[in-house]
Parts: sequence; C-alpha cells; structure tokens
Amino acid sequence: MASGRTALVASVLLSCIIVSSAFNVTTMLDKFPSFSEMNKLLSSSGVAEEINSRKSLTLLALSNDVLTAFTASNPNVDAVKLADLLRYHVLLQFLGMDDLKALPTDNYTAVTTLYQTTGRANDNDGFVNIYNLPSGILVGPSVAGSSSNATVATNITNEAFDISIIQINSILTPVGFNTATGDLIKVLETFKDYTMFISLLKDSGVDSIFAGRQTGGGITVFAPTDSAFNGLTSASLQALSVTDLKLLMQYHALTSYQPLDILQNMVDSPVSTIASTIASGYLLNVSSAVMTVTLHTGVNDAKIIETLYDARPVTMFGIDAVLLPAELFSKDALVPTPAEAPVPEASAPDAAPEAAPGPEKPAGSPASVVKMSVALSAVAMIASSLVAALRWSKQITSVAGQVRNIQNR
Ligand SMILES: *[C@@H]1O[C@H](CO)[C@@H](O)[C@H](O)[C@H]1NC(C)=O
Ligand SMILES: *[C@@H]1O[C@H](CO)[C@@H](O)[C@H](O)[C@H]1NC(C)=O
Ligand SMILES: *[C@@H]1O[C@H](CO)[C@@H](O)[C@H](O)[C@H]1NC(C)=O
Ligand SMILES: *[C@@H]1O[C@H](CO)[C@@H](O)[C@H](O)[C@H]1NC(C)=O
Ligand SMILES: *[C@@H]1O[C@H](CO)[C@@H](O)[C@H](O)[C@H]1NC(C)=O
Repeated sequence: MASGRTALVASVLLSCIIVSSAFNVTTMLDKFPSFSEMNKLLSSSGVAEEINSRKSLTLLALSNDVLTAFTASNPNVDAVKLADLLRYHVLLQFLGMDDLKALPTDNYTAVTTLYQTTGRANDNDGFVNIYNLPSGILVGPSVAGSSSNATVATNITNEAFDISIIQINSILTPVGFNTATGDLIKVLETFKDYTMFISLLKDSGVDSIFAGRQTGGGITVFAPTDSAFNGLTSASLQALSVTDLKLLMQYHALTSYQPLDILQNMVDSPVSTIASTIASGYLLNVSSAVMTVTLHTGVNDAKIIETLYDARPVTMFGIDAVLLPAELFSKDALVPTPAEAPVPEASAPDAAPEAAPGPEKPAGSPASVVKMSVALSAVAMIASSLVAALRWSKQITSVAGQVRNIQNR
C-alpha cells in the first residue's frame, strides 16, 4: 500500500528529526474512551508533546468522571496551573504494574515528575511518593497538605519500556496549586525571571491598579523578563518621573482579557493599553506570524515567550523586551525624550532631579552615542544598569513612601 510506504518513510524521516518519538500518548489513550477528558487536556495544554519527546515515563491517568468532577469544582483554574497539574501526573521513570509491586515495602519511594522540570516547583514539590503497602499501592504528594494520597487502580497500557499508563483513583494536586490564583504578583513570583517587573509594579503602585481590573472587563498583562530590563540603558528608566513610570507600567497591560489564541489572530491591530485610558496615545500594535506574537510600540518590538497565567478574565504573558512607548521614548535613541528637560512632578518634587544623573546621561551626548541600540549597549551595560536600576528602584520606593506620608496626614 502506497500510503503505508509513505507513512513509513515519513515516520523514518520524523524519527531522524525528533529523536525519541517512539510512541504517541494521544493515540495510545484514544483506545480508551473513559480517559478521553485527560487525553483532550494533555493535547490542548501541550503536555502530550512534552510526554512524546521523552523516554521512560509513567502517566498516572485519571478517568473522565474524576477529571470532570475536578474541573467542575474548579471552574477558573488557570491554564498554566492546569498544565502543571497534568505534569505532576507524569513520572520520569517507567513503572509497570510489576515494577510498582516490586518497590520496597519498608519505606516509600520518591519519584520525580515532569512538573519538577518546569522550575516552578520549590525544592521537592515536584516529587511524588509511592507507598507499596500490603493493602495496595498509594501515590501521594511529597509534601503533606497539598492533596491526599491516590490509590493505584489498574494498569491501562504500556509501550515497554518507554511509557506505562496506570490509572489512579483521584487527582494529585501539587503544593500551592490554588494559592496563586488571581494574585498576579504571587503568580509572577512563582516564576523566577520577573523580579524587576514585580518590584517596579509594587514601587509604582500599579500592582493595585492591575488588581482592580481583575473583575469585570479583565486585563492582559505583558511582563518583561529580568534580562529584558537588563537590556535597557540605565538612563532610560532613571530619567522617568513617577507619573511617567506609572504610565510605562500601565503600558504593559491591555484593558481586557485577550488570550493567546486571540492575539495570534491579530494583524497589525492597534490596541489600547491601560495607559491609553489615562493619557492619549500609548497604543500597541499586535502582529502575529507562525504562532509568534510580536508587540510593536513604534520604538521597539517585544515577543511573547510564555504564558504565565490564563484564567478568564485575566491573562499574563512573559515578553522578551520592555515595551517602550513612543510617548516617553524617542524613536531611535531608546532614551526618554523628557531627559533633555526633566519636568518634576508637583506631587513628588524630588523624583526626576534625583534620578537624572546616571552613568549614561544622554543630554549633550553626540547623536551617534544616543542612537546606540538597546541590544548593542546591553552587552556592555548589564552590570551597571542592574546596579543603577536597583538604586533607582530604591529612590522610587522612598518617593512612594513620601507620597503615602503626605496622604496620611
Ligand atoms: C499523535 O497523535 C495525534 C492524534 O492521533 C496527532 O494529532 C499528533 O500529531 C501525533 N503526534 C505526533 C508527535 O506524532
Ligand atoms: C525513605 O525514603 C526517603 C526517600 O526515598 C529517604 O529520604 C528516607 O531517608 C527513607 N527513610 C528511611 C527510614 O529509610
Ligand atoms: C499517604 O500514605 C502514607 C502511608 O500510609 C502516609 O504515611 C502519608 O502521610 C499519606 N500522605 C498523605 C498526604 O495523606
Ligand atoms: C498489567 O500488569 C500485569 C502484571 O501485573 C501484566 O500481566 C499485564 O500484561 C499488564 N497489562 C497491561 C495492559 O499493561
Ligand atoms: C500600527 O498599525 C497601524 C495600522 O497598520 C499603522 O498605521 C501604525 O503606524 C502602526 N503603529 C506602530 C507603532 O507600529
């Protein structure tokens, strides 16, 4: 059969490219309709692909009734957390029924899960313990309190010794599964790479503005990574007044819930940011090509690199550059336009003057120096900008403290 040969050739070619595509968990589970819900979730979350790219693992499968009961009682589960929950059910070693029965009986066995590989699990939170008891085999969280033990029910199928699929009778939730839901700062803190954005949100008070939008119309947040901030010249943030910093932070969020599949269908669409609701302009153009979403400010571009949170009406993405609005930053220079003539805020008079003298003060610099791109300057300035940014963030904190004191009087 010609199509058979084509398929064979195709699969040989494929196996050359994807080294370990020995099995397909989706087609394996397709044969068991009572696990169709988990099968669907594994595919839609992308966890099925992660499973297929590995060898030697065990999937702890949940039947439709268990999974639908869980999703019904957790209607707003964030999609990222749900994917991590699924990863918590993928053990990174092959364990058939015989292997489970042969585990030591005098102590539990700790096994790593796929969740541990995400970097979001603290310490050993991404491990499960297997208890080989006379009454049966239990699987439970390595840290007490996140969920109860599940009982191993039966072996469903396997591809020796690549993947074993074993049914358990209840869902295992990792530590902190529900604690972060809804609190964007807490969500960001579970990822390690957004410390600058977190401190700027807190220092500018924009964290509470974002929190206030989490009901009703919703919000879409774009969080630049720490390396994105390190890629800026220190002068570009230092010269901003408190009001402009607030606008910059509010430029990093859209006024409604726009999940990834919506963004992926935008073609150079100018969209309003929360900053647009306060000042004129501050639009972002969203474009997309081959699943990559790019945000254009008119000064620079940023790409979405990961989804950090997604539960209607709130979604948050990690991006690879700080969004520099044309209203605050000059087109080529990537230094703030107000730097030439800083206008101190009436409410916080010492903000701009204190911030102005930085190592790369742009005023009076030759045009060629000012035009130096962020990317080029980043290499030389990562260290100095980090130090400067931290110093600067301290200044903002103290200014914010003063503003609070004034309000308290
Ligand atoms: C696995 O099977 C599903 C459906 O049978 C298919 O959509 C998917 O592309 C397959 N994945 C791989 C890596 O072959
Ligand atoms: C039981 O196993 C765990 C991990 O596998 C190990 O850390 C612990 O020391 C063991 N306890 C005893 C009493 O052997
Ligand atoms: C799971 O069962 C073991 C063995 O009975 C027990 O020691 C452990 O505390 C249980 N874990 C939880 C989270 O209930
Ligand atoms: C389940 O495990 C038993 C051994 O305990 C084995 O004989 C059987 O073939 C396994 N069935 C499947 C579907 O893996
Ligand atoms: C955004 O897109 C519109 C329409 O295509 C275009 O006129 C405008 O120049 C773009 N702005 C930016 C900042 O890319």
